[in-house]
Amino acid sequence: MTREQWNDVDRFMSQHLVGDDRALAAALDASDRAGLPQIQVSETQGKWLHLMARSIGAKRILELGTLGGYSAIWLARALPDHGRLVTLELDPAHASVAQSNLEHAGLATRVDIRVGPALNTLVELSEANTEPFDLAFVDADKPMCAPYVEAIIPLMRSGGVIIVDNVVRSGAVADAGTDDPSVQGVRRCIEFMGAHPALDATAIQTVGSKGYDGFAFAIRR
Ligand code: SAH
Ligand code: DHB
Ligand code: MG
Repeated sequence: MTREQWNDVDRFMSQHLVGDDRALAAALDASDRAGLPQIQVSETQGKWLHLMARSIGAKRILELGTLGGYSAIWLARALPDHGRLVTLELDPAHASVAQSNLEHAGLATRVDIRVGPALNTLVELSEANTEPFDLAFVDADKPMCAPYVEAIIPLMRSGGVIIVDNVVRSGAVADAGTDDPSVQGVRRCIEFMGAHPALDATAIQTVGSKGYDGFAFAIRR
């Protein structure tokens, strides 16, 4: 298998299952022009997140790592009119690109971008006794993955779903001797999720236009 095949397959799937989408294309364009890194989920992954949210009837979604709002657009579109996406972003420049992209997509009224270190915002959400979330998408800094999941669990409803991006990292996650802090963080995250009594978790490896990576998936008991 070659990376070229993964790209061809992603293109085929995307063409037939996702199609052209002006708001998403414009969001990617604007993100590019603003110099944001191109590390958003792929088209097929974005639609997968969207369908996951719809399949559980999610009304409240939490996202860690907004970037230019690409995955946020997919997730916000899954919400009913009075649903809410709360998305946490450290970098104010990223948040401002995302805000503008969400406005152009007509979704800004459903989305609350919270700027700052995600762990601080999670503490604030907990102290504010915020309504429980139905779905969480964890896609911020990888070294902090386990502390994020730990802080998110009490914010989720029973039966709520937690999805974690980038848990395979071209296979590096299997390397116990890695000195990459992101890979170490993801390893700790998987170990944490597997050991936590409130979670039932699994992980799926993926290939495609984003290379070889994967998602962890968990349900809060
Ligand atoms: N979910 C996005 C991609 C997110 S990329 C998408 O698929 O479209 C990761 C983002 O996490 C970056 O924008 C980065 O600035 C942000 N980030 C890094 N450290 C963070 C922190 N401590 N708190 C919140 N966000 C953080
Ligand atoms: C990186 C982060 C991501 O969220 C992603 O999907 C791909 C790469 C990164 O930090 O390199
Ligand atoms: Mg990611």
